[in-house]
Amino acid sequence: TQQIPDILSPAFARDPYPAYRTMREDVPLVWHEATQSYLISRYEDVERAFKDRDAVFTTDNYDWQIEPVHGRTILQLSGREHAVRRALVAPAFRGAELQRKFLPVIERNARELIDGFRHTGSVDLVDGFATRFPVNVIADMLGLDKSDHPRFHRWYTAVIAFLGNLSGDQEVAAAGERTRTEFAEYMIPIIHARRDRLGDDLLSTLCRAEVDGVRMSDEDIKAFCSLLLAAGGETTDKAIASIFANLLRHPDQLAAVRADRSLIARAFAETLRYTPPVHMIMRQTAKEVEVSGGTIPAGATVTCLIGAANRDADRYRDPDTFDIFRDDLTTTTAFSAAADHLAFALGRHFCVGALLAKAEVETGVDQLLDAMPDVRLADGFDPVEEGVFTRGPKSLPVVFTPAA
Ligand code: HEM
Repeated sequence: TQQIPDILSPAFARDPYPAYRTMREDVPLVWHEATQSYLISRYEDVERAFKDRDAVFTTDNYDWQIEPVHGRTILQLSGREHAVRRALVAPAFRGAELQRKFLPVIERNARELIDGFRHTGSVDLVDGFATRFPVNVIADMLGLDKSDHPRFHRWYTAVIAFLGNLSGDQEVAAAGERTRTEFAEYMIPIIHARRDRLGDDLLSTLCRAEVDGVRMSDEDIKAFCSLLLAAGGETTDKAIASIFANLLRHPDQLAAVRADRSLIARAFAETLRYTPPVHMIMRQTAKEVEVSGGTIPAGATVTCLIGAANRDADRYRDPDTFDIFRDDLTTTTAFSAAADHLAFALGRHFCVGALLAKAEVETGVDQLLDAMPDVRLADGFDPVEEGVFTRGPKSLPVVFTPAA
């Protein structure tokens, strides 16, 4: 019988790609006892689950996955309720609004962090930049006090550990759940005060938003802000670390990007395909459904393996090669690029923050390349990726000739 790869084994955590290949090629549908879910790994199956044209793959499972840390967020909603919530929050993350209000915030936060190390000649790009930049940007966009950034960072770390806690560690679970109370105690009074003194920040936009007579309650806004910490922080953090790890491992492609910064968009799209920040997304079946390799019953949890689907040889030529010039990335700009890869999901829950993430990564990488003209990995260092649910380089020590 076929050996079923265990997604919770240390070997899988070290390198999931051989197991992904086995699943795609030999067991495209497999029951995984430890997570009590069906794993699907082929591009066509994962794409179908996300697009969900037949209304089979719901997000009802998020009630137990996400509710304990964030409360009820947009991710758990469906149907009209989801459409209205999406219409309430999405405009703040679209092009014009993003450019006008938030691009300066993004540029300033990147600059402040880079100024902290540009004269030193060395930095760990994970600890010194990637894990701080997106969280600082979100806190700043919301108009929160700068002195609260470290607290945000702590909550964010606990929430991420909670969401990635596939093995059910009790302490990690308890710490994650504590953030829900702590974050509410912090955030609700701020939302109250902001309603009385609306400004130009994201929190004010959320307070003001109204669609078909519907507005968000304090609790709705608090839950959304809490989701932003994880959904907008960790993902973008891993994307920045991964784009650098991929480019540093391919110096010819790094040189090309350095010479022509418009290629950062391609490097971003290829990074999201090759090493997506989010490797797994869970859904629940509303009815029985046929996928490659068999039938999933109604009411089952399905783990959609984005990391596997993004390397499906039926979809990509030479899928295990990082190549920013590949011709099966459909666009050069990465956005209409929903079709390029599954890293942002697709369909109703397609990432609200995709454009913000793109702006952050492009700005961050551009400024980092300016500050570190000859950046290279520290001597003898080979990046190691960690994480199963989300994944990225554990650390990324680099050296460069310091700015004068
Ligand atoms: C949804 C990935 C950045 C906010 C999602 C989903 C994925 C994803 C896979 C779908 C989840 C699901 O269907 O269950 C990413 C990646 C990012 C990124 C890879 C960075 C490279 C951001 C940013 C923000 C954000 C910067 C906001 C500040 C959201 C929200 C949703 C979402 C609010 C829920 C949308 C809905 O349910 O309608 N993201 N994300 N994300 N993302 Fe992102």
